[in-house]
Amino acid sequence: MNKIKKIIAKKNKSKIVCLTSYSKSVSKILDKYCDIILVGDSLGNVLYGMKNTHKVSLQMMIDHAVSAKQGCNKSLLVVDMPKGTYKNSKIALKNAKKIMVKTKCDAIKIESNSKNFDIIKHLVKSKINVMGHIGYTPQIKKKFKVEGRNPEEINRLIVEANKIERAGAFSIVLECVSSVASKKITDSLKIPTIGIGSSLNCDGQILVTDDLLGLSGFYPKFVKRFANISKIIDKSIQKYKTEVIKKKFPSKKYTF
Ligand code: KIV
Repeated sequence: MNKIKKIIAKKNKSKIVCLTSYSKSVSKILDKYCDIILVGDSLGNVLYGMKNTHKVSLQMMIDHAVSAKQGCNKSLLVVDMPKGTYKNSKIALKNAKKIMVKTKCDAIKIESNSKNFDIIKHLVKSKINVMGHIGYTPQIKKKFKVEGRNPEEINRLIVEANKIERAGAFSIVLECVSSVASKKITDSLKIPTIGIGSSLNCDGQILVTDDLLGLSGFYPKFVKRFANISKIIDKSIQKYKTEVIKKKFPSKKYTF
């Protein structure tokens, strides 16, 4: 069974574990535990200090995906198409092919603007595996908002998700979608949903790795900090500084 089929086959059987990576060293660790590794355009915020993802370029995504791929063996590697790189089917295909060829990733992810279903269809017809993304979509929505909190919104999201499935996507990220809406969307689809801030009702979960490690300084309600790596780095650097100043480092052991 190929990697995409394996992901789809997990629906209603076991949860799909996903995280983001922008580098070889992080992918190498995640690969042991994750079904999907996403090179997310969140790298704009996390690595480049941008206020949003709008200025992330195709080249930035390719460079980080090339690095992430080197640590990724068994997991499915998905790369985000940044804003402006899938304006229409022709542009989307050209850029998606460039990402696939240069990075050797398994799939790309595009955010839904509730209209770009034909772009997904065109990519899938051209043998490119596509992951959809609905709910809070940072490339498109101006303001953060939890989606699916009233019957009209829930219906709109179900219709949107089903159109993405019919267009041929193999999975859909639900970002900050209410628990009730996540359940209804997930139950209405044959393909798996991957939640971020969208409850246990999704088929899988994703977080930005730097957030769960306590490295990014970004801690909204849906991020559980599984570690506080900032503190560990702080302590280590403090120790290094002391040893340099006290001429304890480099000792003989570290000297030729
Ligand atoms: O860019 C990203 O990291 C993402 C995930 C948060 C789903 O799109």
